[in-house]
Amino acid sequence: MFKDSFKYYKARQPAPDLKDVIDVHNSDNKNVRKITVFAADCQNDLSLYLGLKPVEGWSAFDFINIPGLLFIKNPFTPSGQRNWIVKCLKNYTKKPNILNIDAHGFLNDDKTWWDESFGAASKTDLLAKLRWATLGYHHNWDTKHYAENFKTEIPQDLKDLTSVFATALGFNKFNAEAAIINYYRMNSTLAGHTDHSEIYLEAPLFSVSFGQTAVFLIGGLKLEDPAHALLLRSGDVVVMSGNSRLRYHGVPRILYGDSAPWESNDQSLGECNDWKRAKSYISEARINLNIRQVLKPGQSAL
Ligand code: SIN
Repeated sequence: MFKDSFKYYKARQPAPDLKDVIDVHNSDNKNVRKITVFAADCQNDLSLYLGLKPVEGWSAFDFINIPGLLFIKNPFTPSGQRNWIVKCLKNYTKKPNILNIDAHGFLNDDKTWWDESFGAASKTDLLAKLRWATLGYHHNWDTKHYAENFKTEIPQDLKDLTSVFATALGFNKFNAEAAIINYYRMNSTLAGHTDHSEIYLEAPLFSVSFGQTAVFLIGGLKLEDPAHALLLRSGDVVVMSGNSRLRYHGVPRILYGDSAPWESNDQSLGECNDWKRAKSYISEARINLNIRQVLKPGQSAL
């Protein structure tokens, strides 16, 4: 059952055995099959500005026992990872996006989480308090319903990123309309849930991981169904489509990663101040960018 597996992977004493956790990066993996990636010229133009490797070099998989769940093995370049990590921490935590800490009045009007956490009088407690940001159609955590009057502009780069992923995996036009960014510290978890607020559930949901590694748990349509655990490393993209779109899922554990794919031997990249701050944050944290289409094709409002 999902709850039992969640409890097992969350436990500190004794720590869980990770032998059954599916690691797509392990080439001997018998749980996954390689799938075709479609590369178009226009995608590669976008890839460059999005910090992605050329699409024809990507490795994508499906899961034998989890129909509809797809996985792209880190398609980002090291500098691409750095850029996205900085964006998630510096740009996407600014207004008009909504943060969990807004409700507590920790930030005065013109102050940003980034400046307050890393500026001259940095506040480490504020840094650790950031748990989520919502963009586009803002997720309503109580009602779970999106509303036309609770919506702001979704960044074009997020639209472009998911559109490149969708085309590469053979999905029809995907329109990013809502995003949740989850910020995890090393002891954070995310309880099992389904993502069912979107009107058009036929559209895939894109979930991009950065920073430290997660044990991601995915069960069935009911909490009673058994669950599979997967390892998600920095850069990995999980796509919940078709039969997997409404499955229960959650994150019972964050682990220190066994690599740092944002590092590069290219000295010309340098270490700007923003990256120094982001790198220190990410050494003890994980970020998940969760991007959805809300409306049906052709629909312009709720
Ligand atoms: C989510 O399902 O909302 C987040 C999953 C993740 O952090 O990988």
